Amino acid sequence: IFAAVEMAPRDPILGLNEAFAADTRAEKVNLGVGVYYDDNGKIPLLGAVRAAEKTRLEAMPPRGYQPIEGPAAYNGAVQNLLFGKGSELATSGQVVTVEALGGTGALKVGADYLKRLLPGASVYISDPSWENHRALFESAGFPVQTYAYYDAATRGVNFAGMKASLEAAPAGSIIVLHACCHNPTGADLSDAQWDEVVAACRNRGLVPFLDMAYQGFADGIDADAVAVRAFSASGLQFFVSSSFSKSFSLYGERVGALSIVTASKEEAGRVLSQVKRVIRTNYSNPPIHGGAIVAAVLNSPELRQQWEDELAGMRDRIRAMRTSLVEQLKAEGVAQDFSFVIKQRGMFSYTGLTAGQVEKLKADFGIYAVSTGRICLAALNSKNIGYVAKAIAQVVKG
Ligand code: LMR
Repeated sequence: IFAAVEMAPRDPILGLNEAFAADTRAEKVNLGVGVYYDDNGKIPLLGAVRAAEKTRLEAMPPRGYQPIEGPAAYNGAVQNLLFGKGSELATSGQVVTVEALGGTGALKVGADYLKRLLPGASVYISDPSWENHRALFESAGFPVQTYAYYDAATRGVNFAGMKASLEAAPAGSIIVLHACCHNPTGADLSDAQWDEVVAACRNRGLVPFLDMAYQGFADGIDADAVAVRAFSASGLQFFVSSSFSKSFSLYGERVGALSIVTASKEEAGRVLSQVKRVIRTNYSNPPIHGGAIVAAVLNSPELRQQWEDELAGMRDRIRAMRTSLVEQLKAEGVAQDFSFVIKQRGMFSYTGLTAGQVEKLKADFGIYAVSTGRICLAALNSKNIGYVAKAIAQVVKG
């Protein structure tokens, strides 16, 4: 039965990890995947996570099945982060929140549910978008189109184009929006532009699906929730996938959530019953550990403060790397203006490097980046940034 099976291409992002691991050069640097490393090049175990984990391990709790939707303490904490503690949406019961296997798992549960709810819809993702968005929604059975987003000339958002695309999308289309720290471009909408996107979704009868994998990596927890809050205030129904992979440095624990804003508590009960069927037939119920740690941190005022401080530390270090990279490229004699790197938000820079230049970085220097030219600034540190700047200078100078 396997004789005719074709070799699938490597994943454009996680496939780089495989190639990086196989690279034997000591000076190699992985700027591919969106993972935060500290200044020693290590994935940090946050102090707040360590404290919550210690308490939990000392208690040695039993490992029964979880509710299909995950525990209420976790789902409630997610709602407080997304919609604001004490907000109408966090208290009204009209939001369905289910724990999911990371942000990707949340997107997939949402996509599978949407396929049952709106089987004839199309999905629109930004041009460009996170590589897995298209694959994921296509694998859920949707045709996937793009809406205009990035303007390579200004290195910002082509907002007029974006609005025109949204206004041309058929009613009932599903619009996947990056709530903050756009992946891969790092170019975000302004608050006023978000209000216009909300209005376009309302006017056209579109179904917004906000992907929020980087809350806290641009300006802070509440500031980065501006898109979610704009949709919340609109009274529209919408979906949000969220992730603690980056903000808690819990990548491998697969901790995320899907939230669906419905019109009423009664509606939420019916929607939850359907989403539970999607989960039950996929993985039954979520694993315990990662979600328990996140809930313990978010539900303890002291640990939550510690976590926010640690998150701010990660955010500041990435910003410092942005500035330093721009300075060092200049010092290496690169004529091209790279100052846009400082303005981009989140972990990534859409550098404008061509696929050929990315290939050269890998072949000649052991520096791995996504073929679109996306690099992860959070993998730079005080030891490797000089090497990376030199290498980029060499490839752009040809
Ligand atoms: C990324 O874009 O690198 C991250 O979101 C990791 C992933 O799953 O692709």
